[in-house]
Amino acid sequence: MSKQVVAFTRILAIETSCDETAAAVIENGVRILSNVIASQTDLHAKYGGVFPEVAARKHIEVIYAVVQQAMQTAHMGFDDLDCIAVTRGPGLVGSLLVGVNMAKGLALGRNKPLLGINHIEGHICSLWLTPAADEIEFPVLTLVVSGGHTELYLMTDHGRYTHLGGTLDDAAGEAFDKVGRLLGLPFPGGPAIDKASEQGNPQAFRFPRAVMDSDYGYDFSFSGLKTAVLRQTQRLQPHRLPVNDLAASFQAAVVETLVAKTVQAARDYGVTAVHLAGGVAANRALRQAMQTAVQLPVRVPPLVLCTDNAAMIGAAAHWRFINGQRDALDLDVAPNLPLA
Ligand code: KG4
Ligand code: ZN
Repeated sequence: MSKQVVAFTRILAIETSCDETAAAVIENGVRILSNVIASQTDLHAKYGGVFPEVAARKHIEVIYAVVQQAMQTAHMGFDDLDCIAVTRGPGLVGSLLVGVNMAKGLALGRNKPLLGINHIEGHICSLWLTPAADEIEFPVLTLVVSGGHTELYLMTDHGRYTHLGGTLDDAAGEAFDKVGRLLGLPFPGGPAIDKASEQGNPQAFRFPRAVMDSDYGYDFSFSGLKTAVLRQTQRLQPHRLPVNDLAASFQAAVVETLVAKTVQAARDYGVTAVHLAGGVAANRALRQAMQTAVQLPVRVPPLVLCTDNAAMIGAAAHWRFINGQRDALDLDVAPNLPLA
């Protein structure tokens, strides 16, 4: 497929894989006509993480209003749409079911084509919704770093991905969230650690950088790091934890690992650019370190497109739609759906 837009499309996209209920209307895979996100973060804060059943119930409550708002903001009627796209995996099964059933109902009721999309492909395609979209030339390397994923993908064309490596245990965002909880920071831990690190010394504690040698290729591991932070907090006075220093030192270890593997892969595969996607791509230290270490353009979506949203699902759906892909009404959710 050429990177040029070869057909005019208007796609309603729905995303409910975790704790954001989202709907968007995307034109030609690059233009956001609406992007509505109802976040449940406050609802899960008291559990210190996403509570799957609570997430699914909340999606049911708000999905209709979210879709309606996306259509109204885009000034669209259902007849104006070419396709209904929806995240079918990976994600929480109960959450995914709400979005997929909503999409199926709309596709059936409005007689529109249906397309199930991989959530990770959505994150990767979020870069096409940025002003830099025109400059993108394949191959590109994308580091997808979120609460559920830490994966390196080589992308040689739209829809063509090679999985180069990924986390062997915790995702980077999961490690941020767990360490945030250890340090008594609010949920989600990622933004809180990012903020606390500004006031901290990243060299105050020397935490491990796991699986750095070449035997591990482009894989990552963060569970040992999380345990190291736990041990360190146990050695310190609980009421006098140097939270900012611990946060900055933990963040430095995560960032160093992510950057080292990405730089190596970028060299090995001769890519034209490095893309960051997913919630952890919002991290300022990561953005900065990657820009400094990679001698290539480093592109990162704006914050609202880093964390979960439906616009990215619409961007991914565009290329599949113009390539003739469609799903039948028996489309099922796939909580562990692989991308490549
Ligand atoms: O992509 P996303 O919204 O959801 C998943 O698909 O998982 O990512 C959410 C994750 C959370 O773990 C959150 O702590 C992390 O992204 N995150 C950050 C930052 N903002 C969000 N991690 C580090 N620094 C940030 N500024
Ligand atoms: Zn995500």
